[in-house]
Amino acid sequence: MSEQQKVYPVQAEFSAKALINKEQYQAMYDQSVQDPEGFWSEQGKRIDWIKPYSKVKNVSFDNHNVDIKWFENGTLNASANCLDRHLETRGDQVAIIWEGDNPEQDEKITYRDLYTRVCKFSNALKEQGVRKGDVVTIYMPMIPEAAVAILACARIGAVHSVVFGGFSPDAIAGRIVNSDSRIVITADQGRRGGKAVPLKENVDEALTHPDVKTVERVIVVKCTGGDIAWHDHRDVWFHEITEPASDVCAPEEMKAEDPLFILYTSGSTGAPKGLKHTTGGYMVYASMTHQYVFDYQEGDIYWCTADVGWITGHSYIIYGPLANGATTLMFEGVPSYPTHSRFGDVVDKHQVNILYTAPTAVRALMAQGNDVMGNTKRDSLRLLGSVGEPINPEAWEWYHKNIGNGQCPIVDTWWQTETGGILITPLPGATDLKPGSATLPFFGVQPALVDAEGKELEGATEGNLILKDSWPGQARSIWGDHERFVQTYFSTYLGSYFTGDGARRDEDGYYWITGRVDDVINVSGHRMGTAEIESAMVAHKDVAEAAVVGYPHDIKGQGIYIYLTLNEGVEASDDLRKELVKWVRKEIGPIATPDLIQFSSGLPKTRSGKIMRRILRKIAANECDGLGDTSTLADPSVVDSLIDERLNR
Ligand code: WTA
Repeated sequence: MSEQQKVYPVQAEFSAKALINKEQYQAMYDQSVQDPEGFWSEQGKRIDWIKPYSKVKNVSFDNHNVDIKWFENGTLNASANCLDRHLETRGDQVAIIWEGDNPEQDEKITYRDLYTRVCKFSNALKEQGVRKGDVVTIYMPMIPEAAVAILACARIGAVHSVVFGGFSPDAIAGRIVNSDSRIVITADQGRRGGKAVPLKENVDEALTHPDVKTVERVIVVKCTGGDIAWHDHRDVWFHEITEPASDVCAPEEMKAEDPLFILYTSGSTGAPKGLKHTTGGYMVYASMTHQYVFDYQEGDIYWCTADVGWITGHSYIIYGPLANGATTLMFEGVPSYPTHSRFGDVVDKHQVNILYTAPTAVRALMAQGNDVMGNTKRDSLRLLGSVGEPINPEAWEWYHKNIGNGQCPIVDTWWQTETGGILITPLPGATDLKPGSATLPFFGVQPALVDAEGKELEGATEGNLILKDSWPGQARSIWGDHERFVQTYFSTYLGSYFTGDGARRDEDGYYWITGRVDDVINVSGHRMGTAEIESAMVAHKDVAEAAVVGYPHDIKGQGIYIYLTLNEGVEASDDLRKELVKWVRKEIGPIATPDLIQFSSGLPKTRSGKIMRRILRKIAANECDGLGDTSTLADPSVVDSLIDERLNR
């Protein structure tokens, strides 16, 4: 039997205790697509509303008028849903378990503590002049203050824009300019794998960018106590403004469609786009998916290893779990520090029941061998999850056996920054698992596969993945550029949302995501636009032209392969290669570090000057036999020299 046909049926014992079993899944799914209004009207009640909604769904995917509204006449506050409503029933329960990069450091924060810390910081933000509707940029390490900052913004109606701590000063500057942000919250330094990350220094540099004109305040958390520069007119310490603040702060009444946050992500063209997520539908969807996909039950200790800088951290470390009154673990460190058994150590130490991580982390551990988890037991685990990129069946099996002791179902969850929450996934008590498949749609989600012309394909087949109707967690727009939103997602296949992913559907209706079909690559679960890396490359004085493609990489999923032509008179050398690697890290951030740079005398172009990436992808993947038709190239001989000079691995 091939790996792809292997099935792990739902465990009867698991199913008996699960929130949703097979029959319930089918019945609820059917209702969710036959009567979305009725279904979501009921589900919306899982959130506390200040003023209840009466209008549930009001959506148009028509590309002349894309307009997405859920629960539109209701009002609520997201932070009150994560905090206030739990005080009476679970004030003393731990909301956040914080585990430091240093294994000696941890902290447990109850719902009441978290509430108080959020209220105090909310008042401090107001004191600093932050008002409802302002955009606050958050560039922080994985420390409790990051959660406090996010929830405080939500409490006072400010829109947070979290920038991942691995991004460069230039990337921060671009996001600040795009969102007209007046306030930045950061820390002196972060810690990762025993090393300090210069967060404040990066912010200082970002703010020297000539286009950054809006920032009035930088609020700095003292995290490591490391040396930093200080600008009296602009910088304030988090603790100095928070300690004296009142611990009472009434949550702002927000409309369901008021923005909750912006999160930037890469696309196939142009600069990263700020997806706009709103309050009501997002909260309903994050909370519901967190509960059902992870079968979250009272008392479970839940750990999502993502960074709050990504959508996974927003929906499944903060908003979903806290709305559900869960205990959510927040980890500052990395899986390889101090040793490669760290995941196991943390699971045992805090008796984690649910672990949600990325295939790249699994593959990195797998590369260390089967005894990498050392003496850890991991017997508290009952469920595993995967997110961010396709998980290959071999990694799935290894995760199942070596992390989950062969006992735990794995939920392979497919979704995107744009979708706000998980869309295609098993429910652990309801879905038979096939390693490598994200399986079936969540409630209300209607995936379909189409060919290049947009014709819907039936049955077992492969095509481009679209979504035929809306779900409450969907992004509503691109910040400041609705037209780009329409162009990117609603103009390829009219009347549907285009995901940018390809997928296969098997005879059981299971979806197997095959990866991006656009010029986006997925490196260690991080989404990157090839165009973004190319424009960083050509900004270097020695580079004439650049083409970036992904290629299969054992641990990262995809690696970054760059073809470069240099300016006249510039000599290709290893030193130059090193300098260019450094250059990209500075322009975008370490996550965009090129794996391979090939200098070439030319790039394969059509007669109209378009670079034929299809050919470059094949060469990068060492698949030089099936290059297809190259006769339309302006100069077909370029291909031979590219093959001759390709980087052997
Ligand atoms: C990919 C992360 C296969 C996909 C939540 C998508 C996946 C992109 C999976 C979104 C999965 C995410 N299986 N591919 N389970 N999950 N992807 O916006 O290509 O950072 O379009 O959101 O990651 O990445 P993003």
